[in-house]
Amino acid sequence: MKLLITGGTGYIGSHTVVELLSLGHDVVIVDNLVNSSELVLSRIEKITGKMPQFVKADICDRDALNDIFSTYKPEAVVHFAGLKAVGESNDIPLSYYHNNVTGSVVLFEVMAAHNVKNLVFSSSATVYGENNVSPLDETMATSATNPYGRTKLMIEEILFDLAKSDSDWSIINLRYFNPIGAHQSGLIGEDPNDIPNNLLPYVSQVAIGRLAQLQVFGDDYNTPDGTGVRDYIHVVDLALGHIKALETLATLSGCQAINLGTGNGTSVLQIVDGFSHISGTKVPFKIVPRRAGDIATVYANAALAKDVLGWQAERNLTEMLEDTWRWQSTNPQGYTE
Ligand code: NAD
Ligand code: UFG
Repeated sequence: MKLLITGGTGYIGSHTVVELLSLGHDVVIVDNLVNSSELVLSRIEKITGKMPQFVKADICDRDALNDIFSTYKPEAVVHFAGLKAVGESNDIPLSYYHNNVTGSVVLFEVMAAHNVKNLVFSSSATVYGENNVSPLDETMATSATNPYGRTKLMIEEILFDLAKSDSDWSIINLRYFNPIGAHQSGLIGEDPNDIPNNLLPYVSQVAIGRLAQLQVFGDDYNTPDGTGVRDYIHVVDLALGHIKALETLATLSGCQAINLGTGNGTSVLQIVDGFSHISGTKVPFKIVPRRAGDIATVYANAALAKDVLGWQAERNLTEMLEDTWRWQSTNPQGYTE
């Protein structure tokens, strides 16, 4: 299949491109490199023996997207491109709404104009808001607590409306839980621009000595050890979920939301202990007050993905932490020459 991958040089996109190329799909990436490095492309080539086609462009740029659709004639789109930092989205909400929502609408308009109506969209477990009790399933009410989450929810709702208006569309909104890990080669992984917001990149940068100490945001939650519980999922399992979703589009009409998680919860302290063991480095940490907006426990009901996509996560937490550490220890500064 010929596929357009927006945000394909980013963390999840690059791992998905590797799996797609390995299966013989034809891939063109569009990314403006706002949160990724062009070096990813040569790493993908090293892993797969194939260099993906790449266009440096912004998804808000309608002319650039029209050119891409005319030139490459993709049959389906996997839409990863977006800004994703929750805290930053509170500070610059308009940038988030413009980049994520306007950019997505431009992309969907250009898709429609070129009669490309197969789409897999990167949504998030954040759309379950703070009022549902885990395990979270797709029938639960959605809501958002910050501008980033609202962009995901708005895009999902736009896509439900779009599919209702025109039955030619086949759309899957994949709701990711907490992607971690890296490709087993250690050649691609997560490389945040600034100080990481998320737990795993923070822990691994402490272990490699780039950061002094982890702050554990609260140990007074109603969880077994008092720290926050999340559903961590290996990024390669997540990538494989996209392949299954693309295959499923052929037999699906309309728009469906599907969780990609493992169904298991792991606490912050379990991650810290596991990572210390695997890296052979004790990760220093300090308990600090809760982070605003965090909830105690988030994990998926992963049954729908199994039923509809025939997909389930295969990689365990040890593999997730080992692969994170292999990436971080062989690329201590991330993507550099
Ligand atoms: P990432 O930042 O590594 O990748 C996103 C990519 O999109 C980057 O390469 C960035 O340069 C590109 N991009 C951003 N805005 C763009 C624009 N206007 N035009 C072109 N390219 C643009 O993030 P990721 O972790 O790979 O996440 C991919 C998607 O999954 C995002 O939409 C994110 O919101 C969503 N998601 C991520 C997580 C997570 O924890 N990583 C969880 C749930 C959902
Ligand atoms: N945490 C710390 N210290 C840190 C960072 C995180 O203790 O420095 C804790 C958090 O309090 C939380 C857990 O580690 O209990 C995970 O936090 P992350 O920031 O890694 O992930 P979140 O679950 O808060 O959010 C992530 C993405 C969101 C996405 C959501 C989906 O950042 O974009 O998963 O569930 F929406």
